[in-house]
Amino acid sequence: QEGDAAAGAVVFKKCATCHVVESDTNKVGPSLNKLFGRQAGTHPNFAYSAGMKAAGEGGLVWDETVLRDYLHNPKAKVKGTKMAFVGLKDEKEITDLIAYLKQYSQ
Ligand code: HEM
Repeated sequence: QEGDAAAGAVVFKKCATCHVVESDTNKVGPSLNKLFGRQAGTHPNFAYSAGMKAAGEGGLVWDETVLRDYLHNPKAKVKGTKMAFVGLKDEKEITDLIAYLKQYSQ
Protein backbone atom coordinates (compact mmCIF):
# COMPACT_ATOMS: atom_id res chain seq x y z
CA GLN A 1 0.00 0.00 0.00
CA GLU A 2 1.25 3.47 -0.95
CA GLY A 3 2.03 5.94 1.80
CA ASP A 4 0.71 9.50 1.91
CA ALA A 5 3.76 11.76 1.89
CA ALA A 6 1.76 14.81 3.04
CA ALA A 7 0.53 12.91 6.09
CA GLY A 8 4.10 11.67 6.56
CA ALA A 9 5.30 15.27 6.80
CA VAL A 10 3.08 15.66 9.86
CA VAL A 11 4.44 12.43 11.39
CA PHE A 12 7.98 13.71 10.78
CA LYS A 13 7.36 16.43 13.38
CA LYS A 14 8.03 13.66 15.93
CA CYS A 15 11.52 13.26 14.44
CA ALA A 16 12.30 16.88 13.63
CA THR A 17 13.52 17.88 17.09
CA CYS A 18 16.50 15.61 16.38
CA HIS A 19 16.62 15.12 12.59
CA VAL A 20 16.74 17.19 9.42
CA VAL A 21 15.75 15.54 6.13
CA GLU A 22 15.93 18.42 3.61
CA SER A 23 19.69 18.85 3.86
CA ASP A 24 22.88 17.21 5.11
CA THR A 25 22.84 19.03 8.45
CA ASN A 26 23.20 16.92 11.58
CA LYS A 27 21.35 17.89 14.78
CA VAL A 28 21.04 15.71 17.90
CA GLY A 29 20.59 12.92 15.32
CA PRO A 30 22.19 12.44 11.89
CA SER A 31 20.65 13.95 8.75
CA LEU A 32 18.08 11.63 7.14
CA ASN A 33 18.70 13.09 3.68
CA LYS A 34 19.33 10.29 1.12
CA LEU A 35 18.67 7.72 3.84
CA PHE A 36 17.50 4.80 1.69
CA GLY A 37 20.35 2.60 0.53
CA ARG A 38 22.73 4.07 3.10
CA GLN A 39 24.70 1.82 5.44
CA ALA A 40 23.69 2.47 9.07
CA GLY A 41 26.04 4.68 11.06
CA THR A 42 27.87 6.25 8.13
CA HIS A 43 26.59 9.80 7.66
CA PRO A 44 29.65 12.11 7.65
CA ASN A 45 30.55 14.16 10.74
CA PHE A 46 28.09 12.48 13.10
CA ALA A 47 29.21 10.84 16.34
CA TYR A 48 27.26 7.57 16.26
CA SER A 49 27.01 5.10 19.12
CA ALA A 50 29.22 2.04 18.95
CA GLY A 51 26.03 0.02 18.56
CA MET A 52 24.88 1.87 15.44
CA LYS A 53 28.34 1.68 13.85
CA ALA A 54 28.54 -2.05 14.58
CA ALA A 55 25.08 -2.59 13.05
CA GLY A 56 26.22 -0.91 9.83
CA GLU A 57 29.50 -2.81 9.75
CA GLY A 58 27.43 -5.97 10.24
CA GLY A 59 25.52 -5.19 7.04
CA LEU A 60 22.56 -3.08 8.17
CA VAL A 61 21.44 -0.89 5.25
CA TRP A 62 18.41 1.41 5.52
CA ASP A 63 15.60 0.16 3.33
CA GLU A 64 11.85 0.23 3.95
CA THR A 65 11.71 -3.04 5.88
CA VAL A 66 14.69 -2.29 8.10
CA LEU A 67 13.46 1.24 8.84
CA ARG A 68 9.98 -0.07 9.71
CA ASP A 69 11.48 -2.54 12.20
CA TYR A 70 13.74 0.14 13.68
CA LEU A 71 10.89 2.63 14.12
CA HIS A 72 8.75 0.04 15.88
CA ASN A 73 11.39 -0.41 18.56
CA PRO A 74 14.75 1.31 17.98
CA LYS A 75 16.59 -0.26 20.90
CA ALA A 76 15.46 -3.76 19.99
CA LYS A 77 16.53 -3.43 16.34
CA VAL A 78 19.91 -1.76 17.03
CA LYS A 79 21.47 -2.88 20.31
CA GLY A 80 23.15 0.04 22.02
CA THR A 81 21.63 2.79 19.90
CA LYS A 82 21.61 6.18 21.58
CA MET A 83 18.45 7.27 19.75
CA ALA A 84 16.16 8.20 22.64
CA PHE A 85 12.85 7.66 20.87
CA VAL A 86 10.18 5.24 22.03
CA GLY A 87 9.15 4.31 18.47
CA LEU A 88 5.98 4.40 16.38
CA LYS A 89 3.23 1.83 16.86
CA ASP A 90 0.87 2.80 14.05
CA GLU A 91 1.64 1.03 10.73
CA LYS A 92 -0.02 3.75 8.65
CA GLU A 93 2.04 6.44 10.35
CA ILE A 94 5.20 4.54 9.47
CA THR A 95 4.05 3.94 5.87
CA ASP A 96 3.26 7.65 5.43
CA LEU A 97 6.55 8.68 7.06
CA ILE A 98 8.50 6.40 4.70
CA ALA A 99 6.74 7.99 1.69
CA TYR A 100 7.76 11.41 3.01
CA LEU A 101 11.39 10.44 3.68
CA LYS A 102 11.67 8.88 0.21
CA GLN A 103 11.03 12.26 -1.37
CA TYR A 104 14.43 13.30 0.05
CA SER A 105 16.23 10.13 -0.91
CA GLN A 106 16.67 10.51 -4.68
C1 HEM B 1 19.56 7.71 14.42
C2 HEM B 1 15.26 7.84 12.19
C3 HEM B 1 13.38 10.22 15.99
C4 HEM B 1 17.85 10.84 17.74
C5 HEM B 1 18.55 7.49 13.52
C6 HEM B 1 18.66 6.72 12.31
C7 HEM B 1 17.47 6.74 11.70
C8 HEM B 1 16.58 7.54 12.50
C9 HEM B 1 17.09 6.06 10.39
C10 HEM B 1 19.94 6.04 11.82
C11 HEM B 1 20.56 6.94 10.77
C12 HEM B 1 21.90 6.51 10.25
O1 HEM B 1 22.28 5.34 10.35
O2 HEM B 1 22.57 7.39 9.70
C13 HEM B 1 14.38 8.52 13.02
C14 HEM B 1 12.98 8.78 12.70
C15 HEM B 1 12.43 9.38 13.80
C16 HEM B 1 13.50 9.58 14.76
C17 HEM B 1 12.32 8.44 11.36
C18 HEM B 1 10.99 9.77 14.05
C19 HEM B 1 9.98 8.87 13.77
C20 HEM B 1 14.43 10.64 16.77
C21 HEM B 1 14.31 11.49 17.94
C22 HEM B 1 15.58 11.67 18.45
C23 HEM B 1 16.48 10.91 17.58
C24 HEM B 1 13.01 12.11 18.46
C25 HEM B 1 16.05 12.46 19.65
C26 HEM B 1 15.36 12.38 20.82
C27 HEM B 1 18.70 10.02 17.02
C28 HEM B 1 20.10 9.80 17.36
C29 HEM B 1 20.58 8.87 16.40
C30 HEM B 1 19.48 8.57 15.51
C31 HEM B 1 20.89 10.42 18.51
C32 HEM B 1 21.96 8.23 16.36
C33 HEM B 1 21.80 6.87 17.02
C34 HEM B 1 23.08 6.12 17.32
O3 HEM B 1 24.18 6.56 16.93
O4 HEM B 1 22.94 5.08 17.97
N1 HEM B 1 17.26 7.99 13.61
N2 HEM B 1 14.66 9.04 14.25
N3 HEM B 1 15.76 10.30 16.59
N4 HEM B 1 18.36 9.27 15.92
FE1 HEM B 1 16.51 9.12 15.11
